[in-house]
Amino acid sequence: MTFDLFDARGDAEPAAEPLADGAMVLRGFARPMQEELLADVRAVIAAAPLRHLITPGGLRMSVAMTNCGALGWVSDRRGYRYDRVDPERGAPWPAMPASFTRLAAQAASRAGFEGFVPDACLINRYEPGAKLSLHQDRDEHDHGAPIVSVSLGLPAVFLFGGLNRADKAMRTQLRHGDVVVWGGPSRLRFHGVLPLAEGEHALLGKQRINLTFRRAGLIHTP
Ligand code: SIN
Ligand code: FE2
Repeated sequence: MTFDLFDARGDAEPAAEPLADGAMVLRGFARPMQEELLADVRAVIAAAPLRHLITPGGLRMSVAMTNCGALGWVSDRRGYRYDRVDPERGAPWPAMPASFTRLAAQAASRAGFEGFVPDACLINRYEPGAKLSLHQDRDEHDHGAPIVSVSLGLPAVFLFGGLNRADKAMRTQLRHGDVVVWGGPSRLRFHGVLPLAEGEHALLGKQRINLTFRRAGLIHTP
């Protein structure tokens, strides 16, 4: 058996590390399906290329993003929103690969959230120096569903704060295959990622890929 896939007791169940009420890190949870996930990540990126979005304030984000699933998260001068159409290509986002949907549901269930069916997957690509400032995921209509966040490639320091921006944030390192789930009373906690350190990952090279699964809910089209 590959010992490092599992926790110190050598259980077949990956270690779950509580962060807060309704929030935990599932160490190495995505590793057993890494090949399938990476092939699917590459296929989505080939169809809907990564791009650096502009914030409503006019800044270029250091993290490059794309989406798959029925709804994609986008940002521009007009604000943040979910859109059925990729504004860059004028076409719907690529379908959510079956491996993604399965992993998201399994991780949510392991964290106590049964029946999670994401309709949006944001793909974040960090190169050394890229970061994500403390923020809440609050553009979704459905706050009843958790967030499931999968880390692949280079390690990063994840900040997990409280419900107010000024609350002190915990820090935990997220490595290849780790999955963070937060929902229920933790659904609107602030979180972010410190600038990615230089490094070389065996499968992904000089980058970290994060998949964030959400239930965005219905969007109202005018
Ligand atoms: C996010 O908050 O959208 C991404 C978090 C991460 O990259 O770990
Ligand atoms: Fe987020």
